[in-house]
Amino acid sequence: MLERMEGAENGLACLHDEDYDVPFNLQNLNNESLLFVGGREATSLNGEWNFCVDLLDTGIRQKWHTMLPVPAEERIEPYDYDPYVGETVPVPSCWSMLKEKWYFFEGSAWYTRSFDFDELSADERLFLRVGAAQYDCKVFLNGEFLGNHYGGSTPFNVELSDHIKTGQNWLMLVVNNTRTTDRVPMRNTDWFNYGGVYRAVELYRTPKTIITDMFVHLVPDSTYSKIAVEVKVDGDTSAPVKFEIAELGISADIAVDASGKGKVVLDAKPELWSPESPKLYDVVATLGADRITDRVGFRQIEQVGTEIILNGTPIFLRGISVHEDDEFTGKVLLDADLEQRFVHAKELNCNFMRFAHYPHDERASKMADEKGILVWSEIPVYWAIDFKNPATLKDADNQMRELIKRDRNRASVIIWSVGNENPDTDERLAFMKTLADTCRELDPTRLTSAACLVNHAKNRIEDRLSQYINIIGINEYYGWYEENFDDLIDFLDNSDPGKPVIITETGADGYIGEGKLEKGFFSEEYMAEVYRKQIATLREREFVKGMSPWILYDFRVERRQNMYQRGWNRKGLIANDKKTKKTAFKLLSDFYAELKASAKG
Ligand code: GCU
Repeated sequence: MLERMEGAENGLACLHDEDYDVPFNLQNLNNESLLFVGGREATSLNGEWNFCVDLLDTGIRQKWHTMLPVPAEERIEPYDYDPYVGETVPVPSCWSMLKEKWYFFEGSAWYTRSFDFDELSADERLFLRVGAAQYDCKVFLNGEFLGNHYGGSTPFNVELSDHIKTGQNWLMLVVNNTRTTDRVPMRNTDWFNYGGVYRAVELYRTPKTIITDMFVHLVPDSTYSKIAVEVKVDGDTSAPVKFEIAELGISADIAVDASGKGKVVLDAKPELWSPESPKLYDVVATLGADRITDRVGFRQIEQVGTEIILNGTPIFLRGISVHEDDEFTGKVLLDADLEQRFVHAKELNCNFMRFAHYPHDERASKMADEKGILVWSEIPVYWAIDFKNPATLKDADNQMRELIKRDRNRASVIIWSVGNENPDTDERLAFMKTLADTCRELDPTRLTSAACLVNHAKNRIEDRLSQYINIIGINEYYGWYEENFDDLIDFLDNSDPGKPVIITETGADGYIGEGKLEKGFFSEEYMAEVYRKQIATLREREFVKGMSPWILYDFRVERRQNMYQRGWNRKGLIANDKKTKKTAFKLLSDFYAELKASAKG
């Protein structure tokens, strides 16, 4: 027990105080403090950080952040952690993938590093950005607690301006990936619970007055002739923001009100973005010394009756679902891995991807913009969320807002999904209506959806949430979880959804490794047979306007341990080596090639 250290006040007291973490769970680092970073110069803090697992939160209890950086041999107190020396890990990384002893570790872990900083001038500001930390992150600088972020897959910012020192600074991130019932996602998921700071950590130096947000989009009025630009300024609001799209001859001043908000609608006839022609424009916004940029595609997506309409033309979404998961890096996304994902999607003749079940790395939607793949993007409101809990709704709503603010300039993203396979209860309905309303509030230019369950009592599409969303996602596993495949035909015959339906999941496990079966459940052939039947049945249904079968690659998951799984979900069209294709891959690819060649698209 550390009873002598000044910062711990009284180390003994912290053993009797189970509310020790309450002062640190502020959730003050959230969508409101997000900083638009497109075009800004970043200083990377990636690389080797000191690291220590802290299963029982001893560090927060004893306030390790107040320790001073002295060499180990000069220790004069019996503290149990060495933030400034000892074991190191690379950032970004998932600790689960670094050492066998951390594979299933769930708890807090301390990341510490120093960085030298020259003087911040009187007309500058300094921000830290963490691309993602799974799940909860507390930030300390030079012994001072600066804030806390909930959410494992969205970025957050911390302003350091009033806390940075000239010379050496010590930064600490305490990341906790413990699964709990009240969070988003909650404790039971069908994907691996990686822990860590698994996306980039960066510093941004800015002028005093900054453009903190910019949303650029085609006005969805079917004239394809107006571009709306919304900006948010923090600082001096007396001058307008200058907005330019050189290629369209656009140069406009955007006046902002006292709150820093400004919006203009500009006449323009941009070349429209589409999967066939993913045209992007360079946009620039300046205000004094501040300058931000982005690459934006202009398109209109609508839901009219049972049709999904892109730039005035009905489309069929030839998709595939993907997790953010890699055999070697876990949730860390390498550029080569992302490139390969899109190569495989194109080989499948896809025009659509479902980024399941949480916000993917922002590079994924940027690549989708460049490569012409439409995207379904979602937050992990997955299975039995604590729908009665206001704190859980606050967490979910913030993650939705962070995702939308991060990606709403991405033309490829056409659907915001508010959940997956949730029980149809009154509390869930209210919870998810709130999220759908948030999507429309922040972004009236996209469609909303959710991956809903089959109403098995009536064997039809019937979920009360469908009244609040544009597109009904349906996860159906006839031939796998639903034993009698013929029930799929009845299910479709019984259904009259009145809105577009995307079969957001269907498929079966197919194991192709050592000891594989030649037929029967978990065989490659059985998986292929499920695809043959699903394709033959779904292709005939008028209200089915898209598919994103489950899933492109086998992926890691703790809850799958039979002899063919061994910690992997084997529904991938490609094995976890991300190279070996299974029979079903070509079945889907051929089907999509037919659709692509036909009027159905
Ligand atoms: C569910 C769920 C997925 C899961 C899949 C499966 O529908 O949405 O997250 O991995 O089915 O059982 O493989």
